[in-house]
Amino acid sequence: MHEGRAGTVHQEGLRVLPWKQGTQPLMLAPMQGLTNRGLRNLFIDLVRPDVVFTEYLQVKAVGRNLVSQNDQVEVAEANPSVPLVVQLIGAEAESLLAAAELVQELGAKHLNINLGCPYGRMGKKAAGGALLKDPKGLATLLETVRPRIWGSFSLKVRAGFNHPSELFSLLNLFENCGIDFLVVHSRTVAQRYSGMADHHITAEVVRRTSLPVIANGDIFSAADGWRVLDDTQADGLMLGRGAIGDPLLFKRLRGSHPAESSLTERRSELHGYLRELISIYQTLFCGEQQALSKIKEILAFIHDPELSREIRQLQKTKSISRFLKRLESFL
Ligand SMILES: Cc1cc2nc3c(=O)[nH]c(=O)nc-3n(C[C@H](O)[C@H](O)[C@H](O)COP(=O)(O)O)c2cc1C
Repeated sequence: MHEGRAGTVHQEGLRVLPWKQGTQPLMLAPMQGLTNRGLRNLFIDLVRPDVVFTEYLQVKAVGRNLVSQNDQVEVAEANPSVPLVVQLIGAEAESLLAAAELVQELGAKHLNINLGCPYGRMGKKAAGGALLKDPKGLATLLETVRPRIWGSFSLKVRAGFNHPSELFSLLNLFENCGIDFLVVHSRTVAQRYSGMADHHITAEVVRRTSLPVIANGDIFSAADGWRVLDDTQADGLMLGRGAIGDPLLFKRLRGSHPAESSLTERRSELHGYLRELISIYQTLFCGEQQALSKIKEILAFIHDPELSREIRQLQKTKSISRFLKRLESFL
């Protein structure tokens, strides 16, 4: 295995991890359309996740535009004390290897392959979650890519395509291929986002593998997160929609912020978050309307019954100045 280049990497035997041994990392999930570098940097400033992920970078066939220019900009780590994991999604071993080498040359220290996306087909070929149905193709892919990765090499998986047994039967392969850790979103691919994540499956994965397991799915409060850690004995948590709606979830879970906030506190917390983010989005995106529509995507993840009327009003605003004016009424 190559020596990891990252200063913050911990090596446990031969395993390379983007977090310190003996700690329980809280990770910001990869979320296409949401966890761009602007949002990641804001999270790093506000709540310092232990690890952040890029949105998936779609890998095209070799000879085509392997990874888009826009995606290439996303791979640089903004803050060396918060490791960035670059996630790739693709169908072919050869192109994934070429993309992995490209992003490493651009500075990526940790790589993750998406084995969960339910919309993962690329042309006629399986990618994302669909690869869980193709153990042979998956073995070729992992055996091709793993030896050329300098830092950690992880997988983000669903609980099988149709059934958790499909995931359980891949665990030996993952261990033998030198995977460093697994992130388990405990829904099947076929389930897409229906129902609830079943963390009994996460617990079963923890029991069946020696690999570190990060639990992901339906953690919307500190109580949810603590329960999942307790029930599954997972090594850490990955937070997606819950954190987009409430970045302070990271601090609530660590106990450095109250587990729940009063309505007045929530108004002030949201005001701070959205004000900062809209100012970042005005520099990151082209033009007022794009920045406004991106911030409205965030609003869709704020499920606060006591603030639903005000959130709806924010959704209806047609300019950033109106948005900011309405936001001021949160204070
Ligand atoms: C809008 C959206 C975009 C997503 N994009 C990605 C992605 O790029 N890569 C990935 O592995 N998972 C992606 N996911 C899945 C999340 O990372 C996460 O596994 C899922 O939302 C469950 O976690 P949660 O309940 O904490 O949100 C996405 C989910 C949503 C809702």
